[in-house]
Amino acid sequence: MKRFTSVHDAAHSVGLDAILETSGRVAADPWCYADAGRRRTLGLLFFNPSLRTRMSTQKAAQLLGMDTIVMNVGSDSWTLETRDGVVMDGGATEHIREAAAVMGQYCDILGIRTFAGLKDRDFDYAETVLESMITYSGVPVVSLESATRHPLQSLADLITIQSLVPARRPKVVLTWAPHPKALPQAVANSFAEWMLAANMDLVITHPEGYELAPEFVRGATILHDQDSALDGADIVYAKNWSSYQQYGAILSKDPSWTITPQKMARTNHARFMHCLPVRRNVIVTDEVLDSEQSIVIQQAANRVVSAQAVLYHLLQAL
Ligand code: CP
Repeated sequence: MKRFTSVHDAAHSVGLDAILETSGRVAADPWCYADAGRRRTLGLLFFNPSLRTRMSTQKAAQLLGMDTIVMNVGSDSWTLETRDGVVMDGGATEHIREAAAVMGQYCDILGIRTFAGLKDRDFDYAETVLESMITYSGVPVVSLESATRHPLQSLADLITIQSLVPARRPKVVLTWAPHPKALPQAVANSFAEWMLAANMDLVITHPEGYELAPEFVRGATILHDQDSALDGADIVYAKNWSSYQQYGAILSKDPSWTITPQKMARTNHARFMHCLPVRRNVIVTDEVLDSEQSIVIQQAANRVVSAQAVLYHLLQAL
């Protein structure tokens, strides 16, 4: 595998099954590939804050014997210009073309976290920053969440679901939930495409106006009635996102979409999932988050497994 930016990169290279098999091996024995990354360097570049992605990816690299260099763009480094053809007489000191090329000289693999700006949909959905890093660094790139996807999170979500709901095809419900700030669609987009690639029975529920981009949800059932969507669910995955059509807009903060014990009672004793960080008593109530049904910590723990499996396959192709 030469890059990991979406489920398609996995499917069109080593295959999703191979990634899941590797995930199973590293979950059973975290040190089983302890030398795979020896004398290799992973650079981790953060344009945006992170707790889980930052720590889990470093931990995964350590388990593979890799060295890591972590950089917060703007505070640790020069501020970067990401648009082409601009007169750089503003705040940005260095263009991503040179910065990426230089980092490619120091690192064998680069991980990039960059969020959607939520102002220019074409710019965000072209994945301008991520694609620039891929083009100009000259080394394999792993997405640590991009403008439109969060594939390491989605792989961890899939590993978590498969470990808890084996046997039959589970009903997985992705539900929009309220949030005070406008958030990107990346986690929801990515979760949908990974669940569909893994042949889950995926139901997506959200208020009208929160439709995700069609290319991510083809094959899912879309409902605007959250209660009906939750009926018989095996997994409830809550997430807020801003509008795709009215790009970046908050159209609703309706608290009746918060996940409560009453909502969970409609399900098939469903497990509750969220990628974290989560706003308590806005997205989900304390009662649900602190209940045995909540598996958000296992989900976060599996971020190490997903990063380790992906880095292993990127290392194999060097
Ligand atoms: N879920 C997730 O990506 O968490 P962080 O933003 O803390 O990395």
